[in-house]
Amino acid sequence: MSVAVRTTLTNDTVGDAAQPRPRRVIGAIVGNHPLGEHYFRLDVGAPADALAARPGQFFHLRCPPRGDQPAYLRRPMSLFAADPQGGRLSFLIKLVGKGTRALAGLGEGDQLDMVGPLGNGFTLPLQPRHLLLVGRGCGLATLFPLAKAGRALGARVTALVSLSRPASLAIEPLFAAEGTETLLVNDADGSSDPARVERLLKNLPPVDAAYSCGSNRLAALLAGLCKDWRIPGQVALEEPMACGLGACLGCVHPFREEGKTVYRRVCVEGPVFDLAKVHP
Ligand SMILES: Cc1cc2nc3c(=O)[nH]c(=O)nc-3n(C[C@H](O)[C@H](O)[C@H](O)COP(=O)(O)OP(=O)(O)OC[C@H]3O[C@@H](n4cnc5c(N)ncnc54)[C@H](O)[C@@H]3O)c2cc1C
Ligand code: FES
Repeated sequence: MSVAVRTTLTNDTVGDAAQPRPRRVIGAIVGNHPLGEHYFRLDVGAPADALAARPGQFFHLRCPPRGDQPAYLRRPMSLFAADPQGGRLSFLIKLVGKGTRALAGLGEGDQLDMVGPLGNGFTLPLQPRHLLLVGRGCGLATLFPLAKAGRALGARVTALVSLSRPASLAIEPLFAAEGTETLLVNDADGSSDPARVERLLKNLPPVDAAYSCGSNRLAALLAGLCKDWRIPGQVALEEPMACGLGACLGCVHPFREEGKTVYRRVCVEGPVFDLAKVHP
């Protein structure tokens, strides 16, 4: 007997609805809260079209001038949360360099200049039963709204949360509040080692679709599991960007398609791609 197997997320999947057009929006900061040792959450007032951003889409943020080394280029940040009732958009940001340090200095009432929503966003199966999210570090910010979307469709959602140290990002309670089950691993105790992660994931009940962000090693591992389990998978790439609009070719990434290497712009053709094409 032959069994129909879905290994891509297209056609009868959630997420192909008309996209809000990206535009420049200037919003007022309504909150800036530390979330662990290396992260903060920035909440900003935004209009309805920006709040219609889909999980996996991103905004290009202008970093306020700070000190004698301003960050000239905008910095890409994924949608972390949108609250249409409160008119509020949130970003979860890791402190990395001068751009993110400048964003961390924003306070209530300051203005944030954003361009978005940009990129394509994740695609969910129509009636998912169990979704697996595998993220590391700031990649967890990108996956978080997907957990919420999966729960809204009635799916069980399991998130593998990989961090350098447990204290670096306090995200587990946020996933738990959405009803997402978490598997916490970290470098400090060695539990984030890929072989150990693989064992953890192989013990999970059957999964319908899997998603990754924030680690090439974890994405490669997940691509292998998706192949074995014969399920679709997607990965959100975090390539450094300049224009964010498809013009500069600064974000091109190689993919394997039909035996050939092809190059795609992560900002407009991504940032979400078929896992099997990134890690064939
Ligand atoms: C589509 C997309 C969505 C993203 N979403 C988030 C998010 O939700 N939260 C979050 O914290 N971060 C996110 N990032 C990563 C974030 O954009 C970078 O960490 C940020 O631009 C660093 O800026 P900086 O000025 O602080 O550091 P810089 O001083 O510019 O860089 C410091 C170091 O980080 C490296 N770096 C800079 N940008 C990137 C990048 N994009 N990818 C990999 N390495 C980089 C540089 O090579 C350098 O070594 C996202 C990136 C992309 C492409
Ligand atoms: S960042 Fe310029 S083409 Fe993608």
